[in-house]
Amino acid sequence: MAVTKAVIPAAGKGTRFLPATKAQPKEMLPIIDKPTIQYVVEEAVEAGLTDILIITSREKRALEDHFDRNADLEQALEKNGSPEYEHLRRLNDLANIHYIRQKEPRGLGDAVYYARHHVGDQPFAVLLGDSIVTGDSPCIGQLMEVYEKRQSPIIGLENVPREVVSRYGIVGGEQIEDRLYRISHLVEKPSPDQAPTTLAIGARYILTPDIFKEIEQTPPGKNDEIQLTDAIERLLARRDIFGYHFLGRRHDIGSKIDYLRTTVLFALERQDLGPEFREFLRQIARDL
Ligand code: UTP
Repeated sequence: MAVTKAVIPAAGKGTRFLPATKAQPKEMLPIIDKPTIQYVVEEAVEAGLTDILIITSREKRALEDHFDRNADLEQALEKNGSPEYEHLRRLNDLANIHYIRQKEPRGLGDAVYYARHHVGDQPFAVLLGDSIVTGDSPCIGQLMEVYEKRQSPIIGLENVPREVVSRYGIVGGEQIEDRLYRISHLVEKPSPDQAPTTLAIGARYILTPDIFKEIEQTPPGKNDEIQLTDAIERLLARRDIFGYHFLGRRHDIGSKIDYLRTTVLFALERQDLGPEFREFLRQIARDL
């Protein structure tokens, strides 16, 4: 079966980014002029996934509004001949986006569980709504290619420095092909000397519907939340699960330092802002 549906969990609390996330979703934090969630939706669309379910919550109305039409604004921009008009029109037609609300932020596993009726008996892609992955080809598309061959769940992996493994879920396993691992176990936030590898679970997954039964039976874990990693660990007892060390770089926008880095990197790449911004950075770097 081919992957045709994408699920984007975006109902988390965003406590690491308070107070900015008190009254707005962290997934709406912009990198320059585009909200994070739009980069994520664009990645899914680029990989051919146009049926998208966003997991939202009561406080996250702005997410739905962002992908909805704003007829007044469109009219005004069209009248002024603004170039932004086309951007806005394109945004409306980007994908077929559905929404479901997670009643309470009980963890990523619980958020994914809300997708069960939407995905039915098909494999599906999961893209965390607060993480952008940059690179030459869409990260989720790379995972979909591996899925086509293996027909098993695939976890996107990124290599992280050993000193910081304790911030991540780390996988153990055996390398079976270039960048591809057969996963043997998952360790949540290990200390550097106990981490089996430095390959971290990196915000993109292809999952199969049997994950839902495992989530149902997964008790609250770290932070008293139902962790997707714990459910995947349970599934590992029943079937092969692979990890793919994707080509690209993950940006965790929910972390302030990553948010800053990403903004700088993206600004340098922009044709309209890059040259002026680069000059500004050169000037201030002299005084550092
Ligand atoms: P995080 O692990 O960053 O959790 O979520 P969080 O609660 O949003 O953030 P902090 O730690 O309090 O700052 C990873 C992704 O999973 C979603 C988030 O919206 C984010 O995109 N998520 C997390 C949910 O949809 N529901 C949850 O209950 C938890």
